[in-house]
Amino acid sequence: MLTSELKEKLIDKAIEAWQKAYAPYSNYAVGAAVLTASGEIYQGVNVENAVYPLTICAERVAIFKAVSEGEKSFRAIAVVTKNGGTPCGSCRQVMAEFGMDTTVLVADVTGKLIKTTTVGELLPDAFTDADLNAS
Ligand code: THU
Repeated sequence: MLTSELKEKLIDKAIEAWQKAYAPYSNYAVGAAVLTASGEIYQGVNVENAVYPLTICAERVAIFKAVSEGEKSFRAIAVVTKNGGTPCGSCRQVMAEFGMDTTVLVADVTGKLIKTTTVGELLPDAFTDADLNAS
């Protein structure tokens, strides 16, 4: 169980990250913060590009930063936007790679928690390694 203090801390970290979003094309800044089982927090922002499809979402930046530091077990991820937008399908799939039970906190930049959910709820019937190994 995530304590409300921990939820608030994770959302604060996502808000802190949000300020560093690089979104000159969409002007839609996104901040994310992922809490690992070991207690570390990794932040991410969306990073856009003049070649639009090269843009990467905040959630994936946070997760990839964590994974590249050896973390593979995530307790929760907070995602922050101006209007409380939810994670896109690609990010849901990347989250699913590391566990369906991870808590997802969707908040706005004022810190208002809009939705508390899980990866499993956001992406039912996800394609996972179990599908690859099924014969
Ligand atoms: N974006 C994210 O960072 N995360 C999402 O889950 C949805 C969309 C970014 C990508 C792009 O920079 C901007 O929001 C508008 O789509």
